[in-house]
Amino acid sequence: MKIGIDKLGFYAPHLYIDMVKLAEARGDEPAKYTKGIGQDEMAIPPVTQDTVTMAANAALQLIDDTDREKIDYVIFGTETGIDHSKSGAVYVSHLLGLKKEIRAVETKQACYGATAAIQLAKGHIALNPDSKVLILASDVARYGLATPGEVTQGAGAVAILMSKDPKIMSLEKETSYQTEDTMDFWRPIYSEEAFVDGKHSNDKYIEFFADLWSSYAKKTGHDFADFEAICFHLPYTRMGEKALKPHLEGMPEEVANRLQDNYKISTTYNRLVGNIYTGSLYLSLLSLLENNEDLKPGARIGLFSYGSGSVGEFFTGVLEEGFREHLNTANHKELMANRKELTIEEYEAEFLKELPTDGSTVEYSGEDDPAKIYLSGITEHMRQYKNK
Ligand code: CAA
Repeated sequence: MKIGIDKLGFYAPHLYIDMVKLAEARGDEPAKYTKGIGQDEMAIPPVTQDTVTMAANAALQLIDDTDREKIDYVIFGTETGIDHSKSGAVYVSHLLGLKKEIRAVETKQACYGATAAIQLAKGHIALNPDSKVLILASDVARYGLATPGEVTQGAGAVAILMSKDPKIMSLEKETSYQTEDTMDFWRPIYSEEAFVDGKHSNDKYIEFFADLWSSYAKKTGHDFADFEAICFHLPYTRMGEKALKPHLEGMPEEVANRLQDNYKISTTYNRLVGNIYTGSLYLSLLSLLENNEDLKPGARIGLFSYGSGSVGEFFTGVLEEGFREHLNTANHKELMANRKELTIEEYEAEFLKELPTDGSTVEYSGEDDPAKIYLSGITEHMRQYKNK
């Protein structure tokens, strides 16, 4: 039985900043941001969007009534959830009008959370072939104003519907995964911003890719020539390139060119959104599928997931016949085209906005936010959500 990705959706907040302007404001060379880091724009979440609303907006465009009937498991991957106890999956299930007979939970391991969800979903569908599993990968990446990590912030969500006989991509059985206790990136529970040892995190990422590729290749006998493309977790778009580069040297030129060309295409949306932590790998997959018109059914795609701290996995999928007809390309292009640019001052003001933590009430009309689902306020420590 084939198991894999049946539908794939994406949402990013409607506000963004231009990285050239951010570099100028910080006294840096713009080329450092656009070439050295590889980011052109960065999504900024308004106060009316959090990880719950972004996930719900990503899924809303995706699921229909047949899916509502079949979904019996909702897994919310995030490292920037809104509650230490209650899962984002419960809120989203309600906002989407899902039935009661579901499991709804959250998974966390930095940017690996959604990959863990995918592996859980594979097992669940293998045991319950008629089920569909909704996976939500939603995060807000925050390092702080004028920090080295600022250029690698972002916000957004990817929704993945998993099923048997998937319409977009079936996932292959063999994967390689590993865990190592590292302190490259972490966020203590009292902090709104992540702590990071930037250089160490880059090195660990590169090392994990080398290790996982090597154990995958040993296990399966596959080499790079068997791949049409490899998608990477993209904290910034130069990162995957750095990990791939040492391996390109030993490859036939045609294979190296193909992987490099497809890598570039796989960064299309990420360059405009920034890091969305656990959704970044899947935004990269979406970038590839929606922007490479030459991809053919049967093509094998590699997926490298890296969650600091660290857990990583290399796994693969094969594109299904007719996959392109099941993408939501026009909607996603429209979403990106209709965003509004903020000045750096406006972004800083937005960044510093806070929700009350003393139990007082605040209300938002949502009129400045074009998203269907938004945070309409908070009262007695409870977030209130509305679907327009
Ligand atoms: N023109 C062109 N390129 C320039 C340039 C210029 N004028 N000035 C600098 N550059 C290049 C540098 O040479 C460098 O490129 P190379 O790495 O190829 O040498 C690149 O721009 C970045 O410059 P620095 O290394 O000096 O940048 P930095 O020290 O200010 O910080 C960073 C970079 C470490 C990524 C930092 O932004 C950071 O800490 N980000 C958060 C951590 C992160 O994203 N880590 C990634 C791996 S961990 C992970 O993947 C999980 C996750 O999501 C967090």
